Amino acid sequence: AGKRILLVTFGCQMNEYDSELVRAILEKAGYSFVEDEVKADIILLNTCSVRENAHRKVYGHIHEIRHRRNGKPVTIGVLGCMASGLREDLLNDRHLKVNFLAGPDSYKRLPDLIKKAVVSEEKPFDVTLSEFETYADVYPAREKGINAWIAVMRGCDNFCTFCVVPYTRGRERSRSPENILEEVHRLVKDGFKQVTLLGQNVNSYRYKNSDFADLIKTVAQVNGLERIRFTSPHPKDFPEKLLDIVASHPKVCKHIHLPLQAGNDRILELMARTYTQKEFLDLVEKIRAKCPQIVLTTDIIVGFSSETDEEFEDTFQAIQQVEFDSAFIFKYSQRRGTIAERKYPDNVLEKKKTERIVRLNNLQKAISLKKNRAHIGQIQQVLVEGESESDHPEAWFGRTDGNKAVIFPAGRFSSGDLINIRITGASPSNLKGELA
Ligand code: 5AD
Ligand code: SF4
Repeated sequence: AGKRILLVTFGCQMNEYDSELVRAILEKAGYSFVEDEVKADIILLNTCSVRENAHRKVYGHIHEIRHRRNGKPVTIGVLGCMASGLREDLLNDRHLKVNFLAGPDSYKRLPDLIKKAVVSEEKPFDVTLSEFETYADVYPAREKGINAWIAVMRGCDNFCTFCVVPYTRGRERSRSPENILEEVHRLVKDGFKQVTLLGQNVNSYRYKNSDFADLIKTVAQVNGLERIRFTSPHPKDFPEKLLDIVASHPKVCKHIHLPLQAGNDRILELMARTYTQKEFLDLVEKIRAKCPQIVLTTDIIVGFSSETDEEFEDTFQAIQQVEFDSAFIFKYSQRRGTIAERKYPDNVLEKKKTERIVRLNNLQKAISLKKNRAHIGQIQQVLVEGESESDHPEAWFGRTDGNKAVIFPAGRFSSGDLINIRITGASPSNLKGELA
């Protein structure tokens, strides 16, 4: 008893990856993991604080667990980004009844924290941020599959004024190329076909004299690895050398996530993004000149402090001009501790934010549909991921090199195969096809 854990993950891919680290650390310490909440003695929530609704989800989840337990004891631990920022709140809120906290750099201390939380009334916590912790010595407990996430750097030094990440995850630090390479070799042996190099600011990777382009080149040499992806980059770190390797190396996927955030120069400056609209558009042009088939996706924030209707139109127009293949669009959500919280009031009305997000989503949907339709008739190389859960029971699911989801009928192939698919249909969110 006291040894079965349910681990629930919220937030980004880095959090998914961190949950695999947590699992590895705790399995080694003798804990087992269950899927069923009823069977769990300990529930760990790996949390996100990037926007208010991420927060709300976690609070809601904790209330629900306590309600379902109906007074029966269960130890609840909050891990990850929320733990970093909300130490006092969480420990004092009696309704929440959280038993312990562990921040993103404290996972090695989990066995210790859990032991303390289980045997005493004390609410132990460790939310210290480290300048060195990269978990380079932990091999994550991954589900078998096609893609493996691998964090090559952690933390962020950009301090975009809206963003809480530099505070919840601390300073940038990178793992050594040798250590990463070793893990990739092991992943290939374990049957993975694709790796996605992860970092809050992945293209600012640097270890001694190796930069991100060098790292990609090194990883691409691993035999048996079919595809390399990376996320999330910052537009400021795309030297020629990196663009060239993305454009030219057959294993490096032709997809770049390029977060624009806003299209207006005054807002970009307030956000401390370090580029103007024109500089961003020039970068897009340069990328497309080198690699015409590149798939570009982005993140946008609407309703940042003091954004006027006219300034919002600049974002609208930039999206029209670039024609990203897809975009994640968010309403600005003020985060505690950020520069924006101190300097720029959250003064765009909720109604305005809604209006703007609806307009951009409609625009982007039309663009995505147009972009996806342009693939109809093409033959695309697809990495088969498995049977598709949605839509049709008979359908299979995979991704193009550009990371677009494709649905196609069952055939003589299995998960992990690279197959040629003739694209026959498109929606804003995926492609349909048949074996070519
Ligand atoms: N409010 C809204 N969106 C945000 N993001 C980051 N911080 C905030 C915030 N305070 C968005 C950015 C980022 C993505 C991961 O989340 O667009 O690229
Ligand atoms: Fe959320 Fe950012 Fe933390 Fe990921 S790094 S969990 S997106 S706050």
